[in-house]
Amino acid sequence: MSSSHEQPLAAQAIGSASETIGDLPKRAIGIDVGGTGIKGGIVNLHKGSLSGDRFRIPTPKPATPEAVADVIGEILDELLSREKAPALEELSVGVLFPAIVDKNIVLSAANIDESWINTDAAKLLRHLPGQIHTLNDADGAGLAEARYGAGKGLEGTVMTITLGTGIGSALVHDGVLVPNSEMGHLEFEGEVAEKKASAAARERADMPWDEYGQLLNRFLKHVERLQSPELFIIGGGISKRSEDFLPEVKDLRAKVEVAALQNNAGIVGAALYAAEQTRLNQARGRS
Ligand code: BGC
Repeated sequence: MSSSHEQPLAAQAIGSASETIGDLPKRAIGIDVGGTGIKGGIVNLHKGSLSGDRFRIPTPKPATPEAVADVIGEILDELLSREKAPALEELSVGVLFPAIVDKNIVLSAANIDESWINTDAAKLLRHLPGQIHTLNDADGAGLAEARYGAGKGLEGTVMTITLGTGIGSALVHDGVLVPNSEMGHLEFEGEVAEKKASAAARERADMPWDEYGQLLNRFLKHVERLQSPELFIIGGGISKRSEDFLPEVKDLRAKVEVAALQNNAGIVGAALYAAEQTRLNQARGRS
């Protein structure tokens, strides 16, 4: 029996999830498709941070698959012209969408153009350089937070909740992502949770911060009853204002922390996911 089989299971899983980072190429590219902007960056996978600045182009209107694919192409061109760009032979590109993404097929469109539903994103982006892999936006951010950020090294379940136009979620257990958890679409106090408790919903209702903190506390308790995480990580632009609402988040069994990678979590997680998927495909003899 090899020594790795004698380790407790959780340690093995955490070990295998983070050990892969050392085996990955040093850099990959992450791109985050959002409602107002499409942002990309070169990511240093060994450090979990950006190499150089992000590059952003406003999201085209309407944000049809073809129009978004053109912008993703422009962003890739710009990033690949940089000195620190990964070599084309080992290029992995991760692309995030604010939607359910199953095996590169976009299955929902709560906050994006309806024409995305059932789009095969891998096919749409096939003409672009590199190995392209696609994922839900919150899953990308949560994967980065769990592996490099606020959840780094933690055993058990880490649940990242992103608060923005909608509510996104990422479920990571012992460093391994279980995609498409979609906690923002739970029914909560008689409504779809994100319609009531997203950052945009707070603004629409002109809700004072302490009241928003209490609402978020009730939402997190609801999620805790279903998933029992060790840690909640709160992400999304609103996490910059955490001192205004987090004092009201209390009496949970889980610890609660603010996202460490903030704005860059999505791009970093997209790149990590893509590089790992490329490795997995190679191991399975698929590329
Ligand atoms: C979508 C999720 C997405 C979240 C944040 C929700 O409306 O259903 O897939 O992760 O918004 O963008």
